[in-house]
Amino acid sequence: MKLMVIAGARPNFMKIASIIDAIKMHNVSIENSTFNIQHLLVHTGQHYDDSMSEAFFRDLDLPKADIYLEVGSGSHAIQTAEIMKRFEPVILKHQPDVVIVVGDVNSTVASALVASKIEYPHPQSAIRNPHLPRRPLIAHVEAGLRSFDRTMPEEINRLLTDAISDFLFTTEEGANRNLLQEGIAKNKIFFVGNTMIDTLVRHREKAQQSEILEKLGLRNSQLKTQTSNPVPYGVLTLHRPSNVDNKETFQNILEALKEVAKDLPVIFSAHPRTINRIREFGFENYFDFPSQPLTLSPDSNAVRPNSSRLQPQSSKGVSSLASNLQPLACGLHCVEPLGYLDFLCLMSNSKLVLTDSGGMQEETTVLGIPCITLRENTERPVTITFGTNTLAGIQKEQIISAALSALRKYDSVSPNTVFNTQHSILSTQHSLCPPLWDGQAGQRIIQILVNSLWS
Ligand code: UD1
Ligand code: UDP
Repeated sequence: MKLMVIAGARPNFMKIASIIDAIKMHNVSIENSTFNIQHLLVHTGQHYDDSMSEAFFRDLDLPKADIYLEVGSGSHAIQTAEIMKRFEPVILKHQPDVVIVVGDVNSTVASALVASKIEYPHPQSAIRNPHLPRRPLIAHVEAGLRSFDRTMPEEINRLLTDAISDFLFTTEEGANRNLLQEGIAKNKIFFVGNTMIDTLVRHREKAQQSEILEKLGLRNSQLKTQTSNPVPYGVLTLHRPSNVDNKETFQNILEALKEVAKDLPVIFSAHPRTINRIREFGFENYFDFPSQPLTLSPDSNAVRPNSSRLQPQSSKGVSSLASNLQPLACGLHCVEPLGYLDFLCLMSNSKLVLTDSGGMQEETTVLGIPCITLRENTERPVTITFGTNTLAGIQKEQIISAALSALRKYDSVSPNTVFNTQHSILSTQHSLCPPLWDGQAGQRIIQILVNSLWS
């Protein structure tokens, strides 16, 4: 069986890592090589900065992509069309039995659309099984999530991808209901769990070895041990166009965040879209380092201004971060996007996460860290019913009140548990894990594909 796995944007890499691991495990476990799975990894190039792409291949030990489409950025139409144009000859050349797409980004819908309309002259799968179509089967991992907000580009991508997929692998039971309501046949829907959480489960111990807390001045490097306390801090990410592309909305959110950051340092890992908007709208003064986000020097603990992408203007404030003997002050501290292990370490040890990310709502649920979601809706309701997620909306007063209330609740739990023993947090929160978020989703997916194609 030949599987083609597609990835293109940051959150895709965590999701495919578990599937690729599961393929390797399958190949090791079988005795008869006839049942070997060949896989090809296609990287569309939707995200291309080292910190948005290669960094994850290194952290997750992902194999180098077999095919790199190098599409880069563009409007939705240009990016989607460019992926389709470049993907069509690839799929025709390799003729996979199954194309696996993950998540809800433009790379997901573009590659699924190509696969749905292609026709192979002599497909191996149809020779083996005449009931199969003369094209690859399409497997969508993370199917059925719905925000019911069609102004979100991702919602359109989800709806379209699900409508043309043959295998719909879901992360939560609500997703099955959404798909059934849309008329998708029950026998195409498989509730398997969450591949992004598989990757978290596999890497959370290793992430604790990261030195990011020391580099950011959140933990004294001279005292570093597995159990030494970092200072209390929050983590922030923002990248939804609805939050950052409109000047007034973005400013409103920043006003709220500035209030929250009066009480604790907040590390803002700034997405490239958001950096562009901060500069375009002149919002640099909301941050402690008004000229540019900071990048971590690879070979020292110092934090330096990044001169490669942004014009260096002032190095004001760098010294306080660079000095890892001084605890980081309150305020919004802007850093470039972090690698997976550093970011997982940062989230796991934080007091609070504020975000509009989809994946981070799920990760904080498993880590047991309160998550304030800066959106009016979520396509991942299980993170509210089972997890630590609070939907705060985007109004200033609501954000401040949700954040302060989460911090109060958190303080009342037990600061010692929180800061001294990460493992006890993880194990306490395990009982709250949504069903099947157990690290095995990738294996379930591969088993279902194997059974379906070889039976
Ligand atoms: C995309 C996804 C979004 C996902 C997010 C994850 C779509 C429609 N959106 O949004 O669902 O949550 O990725 O991070 O697919 N840029 C760089 N370097 C990069 C990548 C992007 O500088 O490596 C800049 C470019 O100016 C680009 C902008 O960021 O125009 C936005 O990138 P794009 O991939 O279009 O959308 P995201 O906002 O990243
Ligand atoms: N992430 C990361 N470094 C960062 C910010 C996020 O490794 O600086 C990880 C995060 O832990 C999660 C994924 O990126 O695994 C989420 O991606 P993103 O928020 O870009 O996309 P979304 O989930 O909203 O689609």
